[in-house]
Amino acid sequence: MKVVLLGLPGSGKGTCAQLLEPKFKVISTGELLRKIPKTTLLGKKIDFIVSRGGLVPDDVIIKLIKNKVDSKNIIFDGFPRTLNQAEILDKKLKIDKAILLKINKNEIIKRISGRLQCIKCERVYHIKNNPPKKKGICDFCGGILYKRNDEEAIKKRLIVYEKNINPIINFYKKKNILFELNADKPIKIVFKDLEKLLNNKKK
Ligand code: AP5
Repeated sequence: MKVVLLGLPGSGKGTCAQLLEPKFKVISTGELLRKIPKTTLLGKKIDFIVSRGGLVPDDVIIKLIKNKVDSKNIIFDGFPRTLNQAEILDKKLKIDKAILLKINKNEIIKRISGRLQCIKCERVYHIKNNPPKKKGICDFCGGILYKRNDEEAIKKRLIVYEKNINPIINFYKKKNILFELNADKPIKIVFKDLEKLLNNKKK
């Protein structure tokens, strides 16, 4: 099954994707971008765009994921982000479900300001909502947890999201594969609802 996770920054796309990881290959464009060294020309260009809340050009994103769509079950986290990306993806493979994580905007800052992420495996935690067992250390790989520097860019990211999301939603609605998920509940419940949605053969 091929699934696309859509939603506001901080809606929990990465968290849901990592919980599904044993069953699905996760392709997170945000993660792939963060792995590009900032010392390279491309890395500098990407850092300039991401730190200002903009979108990395579609051709860069497509190159990044091109050779990675090689699994039976794939979750796309943070991709597509433009209608063009959705159309290109559609030409490459059949998406079974596009899931829109719905969250109250007031929650976003709380979630993003408390987020911790592993420097090695990129696993996501939250100071209050989902703390690691050992302070500052990743439960899974023992890597150091850091705070992503994205609070500054959040306003711009929200504007960019609002500008681009409707054409993507309409694209998947027309295909009859768009599903909405209330992501304003505790992580465990959101995950249960998501699993139900994925297991449901009918719409
Ligand atoms: P990306 O890394 O994809 O960021 P994003 O989509 O803005 O989303 P976030 O990662 O900030 O949030 P999330 O929804 O994954 O939530 P999370 O699970 O972390 O992209 C970063 C940038 O890269 C973009 O702005 C853009 O510049 C560029 N980029 C990426 N992809 C691109 C593309 N395709 N095209 C062009 N440019 C691209 O959760 C957040 C926090 O909340 C965590 O601490 C978590 O523990 C907590 N939490 C999660 N769920 C819950 C819950 N249910 N209850 C309580 N707390 C929760």
